[in-house]
Amino acid sequence: MRKKIVAGNWKMNKTQSEIIELTTALSVALQKHELADNHEVIICPSLVYLSKVKDILAILADKKIKVGSQNCHTQNFGAYTGEVSAAMLKSLDVQYVLAGHSERRTYFGENNSIVKAKLDIALAQGLQVIFCCGESLTIREKEAHFDFIATQLEESLFHLTKEELKNIVIAYEPIWAIGTGVTASPEQAEEIHAHIRALLGKKYDETTAENTTILYGGSCKPTNAAQLFSQPNVDGGLIGGASLKADSFMGIIENL
Ligand code: 13P
Repeated sequence: MRKKIVAGNWKMNKTQSEIIELTTALSVALQKHELADNHEVIICPSLVYLSKVKDILAILADKKIKVGSQNCHTQNFGAYTGEVSAAMLKSLDVQYVLAGHSERRTYFGENNSIVKAKLDIALAQGLQVIFCCGESLTIREKEAHFDFIATQLEESLFHLTKEELKNIVIAYEPIWAIGTGVTASPEQAEEIHAHIRALLGKKYDETTAENTTILYGGSCKPTNAAQLFSQPNVDGGLIGGASLKADSFMGIIENL
């Protein structure tokens, strides 16, 4: 049975005291919530708070929340001022890292080949990767989104072996739905998720395709999570805004 995941991408939000409060509230709420064996909850705070969040979860003896980084560099060490590496994340016992998020692609010039290098170094360090893909509104209006996503997978992901792919979670995040309040309809999400799974089946095999977790991201909220997650190929969500409050994040997790 493939994993179902709700992951919170906290982006560049919150002060340290707010992060402590949110992490604690979430952990306490999750203690009362039964997570199925194949269900996972991940939080991705800003890099500066990763250690703090790990420490809080250790103090609370939290066994349910996994921690992810929002980014890593393509090299492990060296003269890259301001950057953080997969080796550093591994040394903090961080379990996941995001790669290919559209905000990194748009604001920091990350293209498919940079994303590919990030995937490789993260996997080599034993991290699991949430690989993000998704089209802009212009691409969707031209009806080029199926091919666009196929190219993103082809150029960043499909060099991996079947074995390596086991440590990849795919997140489909249409750019037009991120932070806009406009959510892809369950049918739109399902259509692309099925497309991604079919591409995995063609490139690898049916078992690999069936076992790969594909998340939806883009204005996912407690009010629309149930419908989105009920689609056969939607295995949970990568959540931005609605993960910044414990109750709304829990409201999404409850729909897994
Ligand atoms: P929102 O949920 O705020 O639309 O953000 C989605 C996202 O970018 C998660 O990575």
